[in-house]
Amino acid sequence: MAGFYMPVKVFAEAEAVQRHAPALSVFGRNALIVTGRHSSRANGALDDVLRALRQCGISYAVFDRVEENPSVSTVMEARDYGLGQGADFVIGIGGGSPLDAAKAVALMMRHPERDRSYLYLNPEQGNSGHENGSEHLPVVAVPTTGGTGSEATGVSVLTDPVRQVKKSIPYRIFPALALVDGKYLRSAPDNVLACTAFDALTHLIESWLNSKADSFSRMLAGSGLRQWALSLPVFRGKTPDDSDYTNMMCASAMAGMAIAQTGTSIPHGLSYPLTVRLGIPHGKAVSCFMAGYLMAAPADLRMYLLKEAGFSDIQDFQNVLHDACGEVQADPALLKAVLEEAEEGIASNSAKMKAAPFPVDRDILHRIVWYEFWRR
Ligand SMILES: [Fe+2]
Repeated sequence: MAGFYMPVKVFAEAEAVQRHAPALSVFGRNALIVTGRHSSRANGALDDVLRALRQCGISYAVFDRVEENPSVSTVMEARDYGLGQGADFVIGIGGGSPLDAAKAVALMMRHPERDRSYLYLNPEQGNSGHENGSEHLPVVAVPTTGGTGSEATGVSVLTDPVRQVKKSIPYRIFPALALVDGKYLRSAPDNVLACTAFDALTHLIESWLNSKADSFSRMLAGSGLRQWALSLPVFRGKTPDDSDYTNMMCASAMAGMAIAQTGTSIPHGLSYPLTVRLGIPHGKAVSCFMAGYLMAAPADLRMYLLKEAGFSDIQDFQNVLHDACGEVQADPALLKAVLEEAEEGIASNSAKMKAAPFPVDRDILHRIVWYEFWRR
């Protein structure tokens, strides 16, 4: 048992950045802002943060070149830029990519003598103690999507094109502060809103249905499911308002807190080939396997989780998912090959097979993978 650990101070309310601007002064006098090229400008989050920093007399520099699936090279570029500017803390603004990058930049800025290999150094080789915040600069997170929950996890997923890997770095870098405001979702396209919200739902279900779950993690996953259910009418056709956006953001943050305790489970493990090889958005790719995962669970748990999230049964879940995110469109032969690859990948990953709190053998795994696709 890893022990319950949730060190992020969270303010979740309208105008959270503006209202809690003074809280930024605690972390330093010179901020490095880490964000993407466009969305934090379009949704107003960058302007809000800059206004708050000016109000507090904190100087800043903006690194706005974080790409989707941030690379090790981008992290090192941002690190060098931040060091050159004399920054003493990092503010990540955006979805999972900028927030994950911000965490890694904060780590590397704290270790200016290290090169990129430090990002994937085995902790046993000499960089332990990374949960207490002493080995990275403070990180502030301003999420602008309601899916990854990265503002409430210690996880940073990076891509290394040289080594052809996309994986979490072996550190736990929790933001010290998360400023959560649903208004940043107003400008999100419908499909993005849906796919990210379903990502958050999968985090909640996979955390609850997880061999590492305990009463404390389920406190978060259970509350998160009920919070998620509040905005379900949006995916049944209701026009979203600010309270829906707030509920989505809060559910996503709770989901992040839940998976920070347990990790994810089989559906996330199965999803990556669909995203990498077929370009299917992450939340949709994971959700493809959720009906199968739930059907493999004991019936009473399945019905409990579906009801908590607002669904009447598994068919209702699939109907809403398909309406909101769209069905998977792919060449049948290619889809079959990718699903077989996904199945083989998990079958040979004993840690993932054991992440389910019920027995999963090859036969059950096969049914989890194909449940969504058999009826075609
Ligand atoms: Fe996810």
